[in-house]
Amino acid sequence: MDFECISNACAIVIEAGDTHKSLEAVSHVWSELQRMGATRHSLLINLGGGMVTDLGAFAASTFKRGTHLINIPTTLLSMVDASVGGKTGFNFGGLKNEIGVFRNASAVFLDTVFLKTMDHENLLSGYAEMLKHGLINNDKMLGELLTFTIENPNLTTLQHMVAESVEVKQRIVLKDPLEQGIRKALNLGHTFGHAFESLALKRKPVLHGYAVAWGLVCELYISVIKTGFPTDRMRQVVRFILDNYGRMPITCNDYPTLLELMTHDKKNVGHEINFTLLGGVGDIRINRQRRRKR
Ligand SMILES: NC(=O)c1ccc[n+]([C@@H]2O[C@H](COP(=O)([O-])OP(=O)(O)OC[C@H]3O[C@@H](n4cnc5c(N)ncnc54)[C@H](O)[C@@H]3O)[C@@H](O)[C@H]2O)c1
Ligand SMILES: [Zn+2]
Repeated sequence: MDFECISNACAIVIEAGDTHKSLEAVSHVWSELQRMGATRHSLLINLGGGMVTDLGAFAASTFKRGTHLINIPTTLLSMVDASVGGKTGFNFGGLKNEIGVFRNASAVFLDTVFLKTMDHENLLSGYAEMLKHGLINNDKMLGELLTFTIENPNLTTLQHMVAESVEVKQRIVLKDPLEQGIRKALNLGHTFGHAFESLALKRKPVLHGYAVAWGLVCELYISVIKTGFPTDRMRQVVRFILDNYGRMPITCNDYPTLLELMTHDKKNVGHEINFTLLGGVGDIRINRQRRRKR
């Protein structure tokens, strides 16, 4: 491949970790762009995990009212989720992704070769979003995901699966870029998932995808009861999640806290907890609500 076009590129490095997805880091990127003489016609290439693509895309979207940007995601989560769909931003005032804008990258380059150096936990974290995409898409895709050996992944096969996963997200985002309707399909597993993630923050933090996987278990169970999701399919997915992600360490004593956390989820409207459920694989039911007892 010819890299002539970027032979004069300058590098801006930011520290790893979501605590650095901050205003200070955004400010550092802006300052560096200014110092290096970037213009509205410059191109910012975001090479890294979701933290880098979210923050870099925000910096590019706002610098001189918007310069060009390309994402090259290097974690599985950023490949199948963060780098596509146009959500950019950073954490602020103790809240995740509090400040941001919608802005699509001009291009996203996906290559699973980066995953050679990825640890198994981060790989599984991204894989949970792929399971979600399989569940909202079709039985064939879900079946492939449930039989793939993620412990020792074949990166060529995974490359095709990543492409299919991104297509599922892209198709939904194109129909509803600002999340007023069908984009909520992508929230499957996330009502419980965000509550698990917040609860874990008070004890031992868990990776986002682990919380989503456990959230999928709960929301598929509710889907079986409320919207007729097939029990045998739910059991297959739950078995896969148990085998690979283990269990979320909670007891019945945690239920009030979890309920409280779900009540304050930013996806809710008013006092009702909002779920995305399934009537079957690919049969999406958005805006399913559980009324809170007052
Ligand atoms: N915009 C969206 O729609 C969207 C969707 C999902 C998640 N997100 C955001 O994405 C972020 C999480 O993304 P993430 O899971 O990629 O985390 P991350 O970017 O923090 O990366 C996780 C770790 O992996 C390291 N890393 C990156 N590439 C690597 C590689 N190839 N090999 C080895 N290590 C590597 C990073 O340095 C970091 O330590 C969160 O900030 C979340 O809010 C955004
Ligand atoms: Zn997610």
